[in-house]
Amino acid sequence: MPLEKIKRSSLKNKIFFSITLVILLISVLIALFTRWVLISSLTSELKRRGLGIGQSIAESCRGPILTEDIPQLTSLLFDARLGERKLLIVYVYIQDKKDRVLAHTFTRPFPQGLIDANPLPPDQPHAIRLLKMTGSSVYDVAIPVLEGIYRIGNVHLGVDKNHIDQLIGKLRTTFLGFVSTVTIIFFVISHGLARYITRPISQLTRVSDEISRGNFNFSVPLENRMSGEDEVRQLASSFMNMAQRIKESQVRLQESEAKYRSLFNSGPNPIFALDQNRHRILDANPRAEAVFGYSREELIGRPFSDLGPIDDSGQQCFGGKNEEVAISKVQYAKKDGSPIHVNVHAIPARYESVDALIVATTDISEMVEKDSQLIQASKMTTLGEMSAGIAHEVNQPLNAIKMGSEFLEFMAQSGKKIPQADLLHVVAEISGQVDRAVAIIQRLRDFGRKSDFSKNQVQINDCVRSVIEIIGRQLTLQNIRLDLELSEGIAPVMAHNNRLEQVIFNLLTNARDAIVQRQESGDEDLDHCIRISSGQDNRHVRLTVSDTGVGISDTVKDRIFEAFFTTKQMGEGMGLGLSITNEIVEDYGGTIRIGSGIHGGTAFVLTFPAAG
Ligand SMILES: Nc1ncnc2c1ncn2[C@@H]1O[C@H](COP(=O)(O)OP(=O)(O)OP(=O)(O)O)[C@@H](O)[C@H]1O
Ligand SMILES: [Mg+2]
Repeated sequence: MPLEKIKRSSLKNKIFFSITLVILLISVLIALFTRWVLISSLTSELKRRGLGIGQSIAESCRGPILTEDIPQLTSLLFDARLGERKLLIVYVYIQDKKDRVLAHTFTRPFPQGLIDANPLPPDQPHAIRLLKMTGSSVYDVAIPVLEGIYRIGNVHLGVDKNHIDQLIGKLRTTFLGFVSTVTIIFFVISHGLARYITRPISQLTRVSDEISRGNFNFSVPLENRMSGEDEVRQLASSFMNMAQRIKESQVRLQESEAKYRSLFNSGPNPIFALDQNRHRILDANPRAEAVFGYSREELIGRPFSDLGPIDDSGQQCFGGKNEEVAISKVQYAKKDGSPIHVNVHAIPARYESVDALIVATTDISEMVEKDSQLIQASKMTTLGEMSAGIAHEVNQPLNAIKMGSEFLEFMAQSGKKIPQADLLHVVAEISGQVDRAVAIIQRLRDFGRKSDFSKNQVQINDCVRSVIEIIGRQLTLQNIRLDLELSEGIAPVMAHNNRLEQVIFNLLTNARDAIVQRQESGDEDLDHCIRISSGQDNRHVRLTVSDTGVGISDTVKDRIFEAFFTTKQMGEGMGLGLSITNEIVEDYGGTIRIGSGIHGGTAFVLTFPAAG
């Protein structure tokens, strides 16, 4: 548990405790080692001195032992304990070779226990053993007394160990004092050191706390030490750099967030944020509310598909989650159900930590309306131009009706009886011609009707035939032959028949104009014709309109799809035909290519994706 406590304690305490502990450990180890060295050297010195004294006694007592002069031996022993030695040497006694005690320095009876306490083995120069005596410890030093090679006795002297113990006692106190002083000094030093090291770190911690709370204008003073060059200073400076960077990027983030918000809120177009997986609306700008008629609360959480597309024109949706998608001219619905035409641009992005699609829509309803007005105007102009041919066309059934009715009138006036069979034939003829006239007028009406942007499966050959029925007669009147090479069984295309008819109409009128121009320039004898062919290659339906007209120069070719570009005289052409044609073809995902026609004329090749 104390280990846990230490782990959880502050860095300052950890530094402080570890320094104190290490110093304490080192001082104790030094003290113990010094004590051990001192004790062992003192002990060996003591023993060495004991041996020295013992040997000098053994030298001088050889004679008295041989003569067994006990008084002499006794005085020798007492002499050996004279002066300072008395403190060192506790006792001395001499034995003869049979270990009988000949003399000793004890003032009381000789303690018999001593005799066997430290036996001197034969052939040993000495023997030393620590003995416990009453009140003290004594090193018994035994030295043989030799006469030549014979041992004639032993000298035993007791060296007082208390002498060393007192010294060691004094040393212990000194060491204890030393360790305590060192510990106290280092306690203070390590406390200061720990504070010195950890104070700037604590300050940095406080600063980082402020930053994590989002406060970059922290007021924590970073002390002078941070101006040094040590690691803490480096840490502080890189930390402050980092904080500065975070602050700057935070500011930039807030700015861009604010910029984005203001763009989002004040943008002129409806913008939606959808979640990438289910395409539900996460957010919508005020413009989206205004245009689509929903409140923001109604929009949020609603599937984007609730708004559109409401026709087949925009079936393609935001497929892949991570790609940009642009869909043009699709019909969406407002809350009240009224349609609205929009261009849609979706880009994947992160929105409030969610994978999102930012969908920007542009309301092009007005533009679409203007376009269709323009298309209509152009159509009406063409119809006006075609009026001579159309009048001729309507005139024929009228003539037939006139002839029939005149016949009936003549017969009635002349009082002749009309045979039943003739009457029926004339009436049927009149009725048939009326139907024909009605059909022509109906076709004109259909063509003149304003078309919308809806799409359905259309047979391109049918459109060609409808147009020919309107302007075929006109072409014949202008000596232009029509070659139809329509392949049957080709796939339909996704389009609106009225618009496709307008495309074919424009191409035919252009071809006619180019031929007329060539005729006027003297090429009258040429067999002038317009060839319309259809076909299918793989997934594409193709329609080619070739003519024997004047052809198109490269400089004109580059500009023919521009609106209001024309080479025709004022009043003859507005220069809108091909630009409208191009727009319609693009709307249906098709292409237009210009190639060579018949006898140096021009060919327009249209392709559309096959439907179904
Ligand atoms: N089949 C063609 N042969 C030669 N030139 C052509 C042909 N089709 C178009 N052009 C050239 O392209 C120009 C632009 O054609 P476009 O149909 O856009 O306008 P326009 O026919 O001049 O006028 P509008 O169609 O509005 O009556 C024409 O003026 C003509 O010079
Ligand atoms: Mg034209």
